[in-house]
Amino acid sequence: HGTSRVNEAGQLVIGGTEAAELAKRFGTPLYVYDEALIRQTIRAYKAAFEKSGLRYDIAYASKAFCTMAMCRLVADEGLSIDVVSGGEMYTALKANFPPERIHFHGNNKTPDEIEQALEAGIGLFVVDSFHELQLLGALATEKGLVADIELRLSPGVEVHTHEYISTGQEDSKFGFSIAKGTARQAVEQALQTKGVRLVGIHCHIGSQIFETEGFKTAVARMAEFYVMSQRELGAADLSILNVGGGFGIRYTAEDDPLEPVAYIDAITEAVKAEFTRLGTEYPEVAIEPGRSIVGPAGTTLYTIGSTKDIPGVRKYVSVDGGMADNPRPALYQAVYEAMIANRADEEPTELVSIAGKACESGDMLIWDVKLPTVQAGDILAVSCTGAYNYSMASNYNRMVRPAVVFVQEGEADVVVKRETKDDLIKGDVIPARFLDGVY
Ligand code: LLP
Repeated sequence: HGTSRVNEAGQLVIGGTEAAELAKRFGTPLYVYDEALIRQTIRAYKAAFEKSGLRYDIAYASKAFCTMAMCRLVADEGLSIDVVSGGEMYTALKANFPPERIHFHGNNKTPDEIEQALEAGIGLFVVDSFHELQLLGALATEKGLVADIELRLSPGVEVHTHEYISTGQEDSKFGFSIAKGTARQAVEQALQTKGVRLVGIHCHIGSQIFETEGFKTAVARMAEFYVMSQRELGAADLSILNVGGGFGIRYTAEDDPLEPVAYIDAITEAVKAEFTRLGTEYPEVAIEPGRSIVGPAGTTLYTIGSTKDIPGVRKYVSVDGGMADNPRPALYQAVYEAMIANRADEEPTELVSIAGKACESGDMLIWDVKLPTVQAGDILAVSCTGAYNYSMASNYNRMVRPAVVFVQEGEADVVVKRETKDDLIKGDVIPARFLDGVY
């Protein structure tokens, strides 16, 4: 996919540079991003909306992968960005992301975060609760500001994905329920709250979704509610219908997602059909893709070390990373594909399982993958690791977080430096009393 290929020397090449060369230069584990592929996906989303003729806004969901370079890239491509914490907001602002194009999400924004956002001139708050509505209204009024808000609604759509990442159903910590009437109350309350202006309604039905049915149902329910809010509740400033993110990607050959633009086509067609049926002007359509923009563009490189062959049972091949840099297999039973980057042209000869180096049996990156006979020192490339890998990485077992490089046209730039052992202990403090007379 993207700009990766196998060259005449049998080497996996990403963005014009051999993966094994990247591993040598920057060390492993290493997150490698194919910059051209990220830009290509973003542009495909834009083109699909342009074709629809609707007004639109695409916000990159930065939780999938948030670094200053990524924020900069997203800003340069003209998208908005969705942040869910003071930390993501800070990263975007430090990368000079235009604050008016930052959308602030989260089901429990703290007063500090809200103040930080108001002071920075954040363009949109996606309000998730009555508590937040009241808090935001009060803090904005205190500062003499009016914050643009969308209300996060649950449209009661169940999609087929992992339960941890399914969010549109009724029993969820997120948002106001359309079916239970709290969405209606939220609109009424928002219209009476000083310091906020209700400009849109929002939903997010889940992540890694492979079909368009759920989106169409969500659009239908949201459209109905949108028009009701205008006509019955007098929501005069309402102009945005935000349907969130969640477009699925191909992690393995078994996955069968649609092309990114197919989701947009389905959504824009549904919006046109519903609003025509309801006899009112088309809204601006907003989406928030994260995974689909960065997932396929990321590859993690590891160095293979020890192997353990249990005859007749399994061969374990260990790499120098694992659940600390990619917790998704352990958390969601996520499945990945891999290849030997330095012998990418060789036929697979054996079935092995890739183990991480953390001290627990659950630290398995891939169960059963066919590879050429592996040797210590080979470079393993795990594909499609661009979303929710770096962003969910931890220092478990006090492992340092890997470096991140962006590659394009034969150039490689470090966008996040590898952590050092000093980074690991920089916040550590030994209480003075521990030292008294003990050592
Ligand atoms: N908008 C909202 C309100 C969201 O909650 C999310 C993801 C997105 C947009 C972006 O969804 P995407 O296009 O990336 O599917 N850590 C999990 C995924 C959690 C998704 C959380 N919300 C994983 O590794 O699969």
